[in-house]
Amino acid sequence: MIFYFSGLGNSQHVAEGLVEEGERLIFIPAAERAGSLDFTFENGERLGFVFPVYSWRAPRLVSEFVRKMRLKGRPGYTFMVCTCGDDCAKTEHYFRQDLLQAGLSLDAAIAIQMPNTYVCLPGMNVDPAELANDKLHKAEQRIAEVKALLRRREEVSQMLVTGIPGIKSDIIQPLFYRLLVKDKKFHSSNACISCGLCAKSCPLENIKMVDGRPQWQGNCTTCLSCYHHCPQHAIHFGKATENKGQYYFGQNQ
Ligand SMILES: Cc1cc2nc3c(=O)[nH]c(=O)nc-3n(C[C@H](O)[C@H](O)[C@H](O)COP(=O)(O)O)c2cc1C
Repeated sequence: MIFYFSGLGNSQHVAEGLVEEGERLIFIPAAERAGSLDFTFENGERLGFVFPVYSWRAPRLVSEFVRKMRLKGRPGYTFMVCTCGDDCAKTEHYFRQDLLQAGLSLDAAIAIQMPNTYVCLPGMNVDPAELANDKLHKAEQRIAEVKALLRRREEVSQMLVTGIPGIKSDIIQPLFYRLLVKDKKFHSSNACISCGLCAKSCPLENIKMVDGRPQWQGNCTTCLSCYHHCPQHAIHFGKATENKGQYYFGQNQ
């Protein structure tokens, strides 16, 4: 059984690449909406989590889900695969703590580098097209390698960690959530054509169209799906995104 979250499709693509025939692939927000957090494991069945790195940890909605879910039976092997733009810092460490709360341990922790999606801070932007394409190309091979090692049930830690992981995950992440993970700053400009793609693409169903314009309802994880999917580049996060690029998985296909 694999649980996943994805805002812009990178992690969804990875999850779909890793799932085995007949294995259950469950979108975490859909499970939350269905309101059933009980899951039963067949003998020796594996348990996987696939998600993007948000501010150097798992997205909070993923951590909260892990801590809430109720499992019947024990998984035979447990793994996490995260996608990131360039650095996971202490994502593995914190995800192990989430699993521990659920009485689980982790056998494999793996990162796959994918195009960056975070654009709401100065200096942060989507990758130039060449870099994004290079990451996507390398990710295909990596997904095949990871699928094989997960099939062999290897115990590995293959995370992508660069400098000052403690400062990023321990100190900046809580501040990031307190200050920036909220939807009050989202707005649409007059370029909006009322197509409703922002609402349709929101994984949390957090956007209502009111008089032809998006209104955010307060349950936002700032995945930026609304921003990146807007065909008019009409959605902005304060002034931070005015000159930033857009990206979602499969954009140029
Ligand atoms: C709110 C937010 C925070 C992010 N934080 C990080 C980060 O700490 N490190 C990193 O390498 N990438 C970071 N990213 C980039 C994503 O992890 C990366 O682009 C991921 O592949 C997106 O996956 P998705 O398409 O499944 O949403 C962040 C993206 C968002 C939207």
